Amino acid sequence: MDHRIRKIVVLGGGTAGWMTASYLGKWLGNTVSLTLIESPSVPRIGVGEATIPNLQPLFFDFLGLKEKDWMPQCNASFKIGIDFINWKSGGPGQAQARTVDGRRDSFYHVFAPLPEHQGVPMFQYWDYLRHHGLTEKPFDAACFWESSLLDSRKSPCWLDGRPSTAYAWHFDAHLVADFLRRFSTKEFGVRHVEDEMTGVEQDGRGYVTALRTASGNRYEADLFIDCSGFRGLLINKAMAEPFIDMNDYLLCDSAVATAVPHDDDAQGVEPYTSAIAMESGWTWKIPMLGRFGTGYVFSSRFVERDRATRDLCRMWNLDPDRAELNQITFRVGRNRRAWVRNVVGVGLASCFLEPLESSGIYFITTALHHLVRHFPDKRFNETLISQYNREIEFMFEESRDFIQLHFLAAPRDDTEFWRANKNLRLSPQLEQKIAMYRAGLPVNQPIDSGAGSYSDAMVNSRLCFPNSSYCCILAGSGVYPDAPLPSLAHQDDVVAAYEQMFATVERKQQELAGTLPATVEYLRAIHTK
Ligand code: FDA
Repeated sequence: MDHRIRKIVVLGGGTAGWMTASYLGKWLGNTVSLTLIESPSVPRIGVGEATIPNLQPLFFDFLGLKEKDWMPQCNASFKIGIDFINWKSGGPGQAQARTVDGRRDSFYHVFAPLPEHQGVPMFQYWDYLRHHGLTEKPFDAACFWESSLLDSRKSPCWLDGRPSTAYAWHFDAHLVADFLRRFSTKEFGVRHVEDEMTGVEQDGRGYVTALRTASGNRYEADLFIDCSGFRGLLINKAMAEPFIDMNDYLLCDSAVATAVPHDDDAQGVEPYTSAIAMESGWTWKIPMLGRFGTGYVFSSRFVERDRATRDLCRMWNLDPDRAELNQITFRVGRNRRAWVRNVVGVGLASCFLEPLESSGIYFITTALHHLVRHFPDKRFNETLISQYNREIEFMFEESRDFIQLHFLAAPRDDTEFWRANKNLRLSPQLEQKIAMYRAGLPVNQPIDSGAGSYSDAMVNSRLCFPNSSYCCILAGSGVYPDAPLPSLAHQDDVVAAYEQMFATVERKQQELAGTLPATVEYLRAIHTK
């Protein structure tokens, strides 16, 4: 008997829905029929503009799409890392970094891997010298040559497209969904239905058998992917799977977002996201050609929406009564199970973390990677399902801990919001990582072995944020190991090894900042082709 899945329905046409339709369309070819139902009257969330570096290798490469195929159609730009502004000093939200102890209140989270010597990351050497008063250079400037590209707004690629380092992308989320709609309907024959789902039919075992729509149609399938956004219409409503709220780890639950025109000629385009600390949360700034996306992510427990809206508008000189503002309330957490019977939640219908490290699209990519690895037949083997659910849980909790670390490590404690962040629940895994870092050890080290790590799907699906990311956030916040890694004291060449690595970094900083094109120049070249 043929138990193969023959029909799949994807509910929802946001980024998650169209990424799912494209990925499954490519993977399953013409062995299944794929239908995507999207309500014309329920808008996409429309935010989700920053990514992490594995998007190209794990998603677009899989689809056979190179940067030049999708970037121009999605107003995409580059993201070499994140600039964390004013996470140390108290005060009202402002785009410019304040000055603390004679230095800008700012540090970078750079995506590139750290140089190593004899298997020990450069951070440990830098910390050894810092501890002994032998260097005053901040970690990001000392150990990443990419910091000079952020400083000078250089593109991570040469004009012929060759990359000089690991990087991610910013883009217009609506354009990405539209691009993938055109791509998947044309290339893989995905059927696009514009209609509102109004009813769910289930059999006696609770499996979904068909979706009914407002226009009176019925769509039967063997497998249903719920990409209906925060509503979770299939997984939470029809399957009644509970959502585990994680507001005891992360306080932000709301955002107000807009787009601001930008003078690229006068100011260039920053090849990084800015994360600007506010009194009750933080604001993103995501540059693209001609504009930047921005949004204040805040905790409704500590600031009223009107006040947050005014704070965001004041920061960018916008009139709150005239600016086009997207008011968003979100849930932070995950479904107890991402996959229940024949329904799999993907995207916001499955899990969400506030967007400080741009994890939303990464979660979608990882869910799709695991879905095809655990792809079922009509018998829906429980082990396939529970293994998939375990992977999603691991991915989510690993990322949640990393994001919580930012708020915990930030020295600022000038408002109730920042003080409350210091007293939240911590997972045992995060406590262990902090203890390791304090003891001078690398954290999440194996992934940090080379620039290729972002291409390794298995590694990326489990440990997205490597040791270098932990070092950036902790050292950037002024949290250092209690003592340098003890074994370094037994090496004769600690200082010489560091100086050699540092000299290489400094030479590359100068060389690359001097030869790579400005980000605006690169983007104009690809967007006008
Ligand atoms: P989305 O809500 O976009 O889509 C839902 C779809 O379901 C729509 O097409 C709708 O029409 C459809 N639908 C709903 N009800 C229906 C019905 N009854 N019948 C038919 N269709 C129906 N991620 C990231 O990677 N980087 C980032 O920088 C950010 N930033 C960010 C900021 C903020 C404030 C939030 C809240 C989220 C982010 N994200 C993010 C997350 C990112 O936005 C998200 O992961 C993707 O946009 C995916 O969204 P979905 O497609 O899951 O839902």
